[in-house]
Amino acid sequence: MNIILLGPPGAGKGTQAARLQAQRGMIQLSTGDMLREARASGSPIGDKVKAIMDAGELVSDEIVTALIGERLDSAQAKGAIFDGYPRTQAQAEALDLLLSERGRKLDYVIELVVDEDALVDRITGRFSCAKCGTGYHDRFKPTKVAGVCDVCGSTEFVRRPDDNEQTVRRRMAEYRAKTAPILPYYESRGLVRRVDGMESVDEVAAQIDAVLDATE
Ligand code: AP5
Repeated sequence: MNIILLGPPGAGKGTQAARLQAQRGMIQLSTGDMLREARASGSPIGDKVKAIMDAGELVSDEIVTALIGERLDSAQAKGAIFDGYPRTQAQAEALDLLLSERGRKLDYVIELVVDEDALVDRITGRFSCAKCGTGYHDRFKPTKVAGVCDVCGSTEFVRRPDDNEQTVRRRMAEYRAKTAPILPYYESRGLVRRVDGMESVDEVAAQIDAVLDATE
């Protein structure tokens, strides 16, 4: 099964994709994570995208589609969760081509419906373990023991440079202008399912599971 998780910054795409990967063996394909890896490696692509990401703007369709294309074959068996891709009409059409070239198809586009004002709080409170990458939130998902990662025990944490209020607002504007308009493309094919992204993490998970289980 191949699904897209669609929603603005902070809607919970990464949280739910990581859970689906752990529980169902699907593969999370996050263009945001791929771009952050490229930045950290100091590769030519990484240097090119750094300023764009820090400004909260979208990286070129060609770069992100190339990154997804490279990883898609690794997500063959139990399927892929597209997290943060596609974000433009050109990316949506490129994804259709990548899948059809491999004899695969899209099963669902799950839209996380959220209230944008609440998202600034979610994003500015987010941090992750510097060692294993597990994600947390100051209020909504703190570590069990203060200052210690639940998963690997590390005491070092990081915050994303684009998680400040000004950049978050720019990212949201990009979502409204370029990403939300691709929904009708999928609606016309009957692929869109909506879940209430303002519920708790567990409740959102249950709503997504209900969609996926209905077809298994
Ligand atoms: P990317 O990394 O994809 O960021 P994003 O879309 O802005 O999404 P986020 O990671 O901020 O949020 P999320 O929805 O995953 O929420 P999360 O689960 O973490 O992209 C970053 C940048 O890379 C872009 O700005 C762009 O420059 C570039 N880029 C990436 N893909 C691109 C593409 N395809 N084309 C062009 N450019 C691209 O949750 C947020 C917080 O809330 C967490 O702390 C979490 O614990 C908490 N939380 C989650 N769910 C809930 C809940 N239900 N209740 C309470 N708290 C919750």
